[in-house]
Amino acid sequence: MREAMIITYILATICILSVTVHASQCSMNGIPLVRNISELPQDNYGRPGFLHTTLAGSLLHGMKEIEVWLQTFAPGTHTPIHRHSCEEVFVVLRGSGTLHIASNTHTKFPGEPLVYPIFTNSTFHVPVNDAHQILNTGEHEDLQVLVIISRPPVKVFMYADWYMPHTAAQLKFPYYWDEKCYKNNETPENDEL
Ligand SMILES: *[C@@H]1O[C@H](CO)[C@@H](O)[C@H](O)[C@H]1NC(C)=O
Ligand SMILES: *[C@@H]1O[C@H](CO)[C@@H](O)[C@H](O)[C@H]1NC(C)=O
Repeated sequence: MREAMIITYILATICILSVTVHASQCSMNGIPLVRNISELPQDNYGRPGFLHTTLAGSLLHGMKEIEVWLQTFAPGTHTPIHRHSCEEVFVVLRGSGTLHIASNTHTKFPGEPLVYPIFTNSTFHVPVNDAHQILNTGEHEDLQVLVIISRPPVKVFMYADWYMPHTAAQLKFPYYWDEKCYKNNETPENDEL
């Protein structure tokens, strides 16, 4: 009986501790208003050569309308081909690469994308629901971009290739960097094309 009580006590303590840890990673409380970018957490979310930092996020900082990310792509790395029903603005801080973008949201699949070179100090935006991919096509230099995206947390639809039908694109929600702090009581809106 006594042992059972001790075990219950230990389990309860572990439970409370893990809830506290979870809350402190995802809570807006205690996060300074002015933050040193070099000291913010960054992660590659299982993608070698990629680094993501959420500078201002809906889950981490309570942003309602926009979210700001800093991302680095090593030479040869890229985003998946994907779309999202929100606006996205890129500022290239460093390096160069390629934007692939297909605007055929009225056809069954994206189709052959338009290809644009992107370079340090360039900026571009991706219209709502246009399938796109950012690639570091360089050989030596990292590509670093500042990303401003609306309607957070982002709902990403991923394509295996440019000829996959829009309706077959795979919804990834919450997206990788939102997984840890996302609470399941919110369901994504239907953004099917
Ligand atoms: C920001 O963080 C970096 C890395 O820790 C540090 O070297 C730098 O001094 C910090 N900047 C300020 C203004 O505190
Ligand atoms: C980027 O633009 C700023 C402002 O025009 C300029 O000072 C800077 O030299 C530019 N950097 C590069 C790498 O072109």
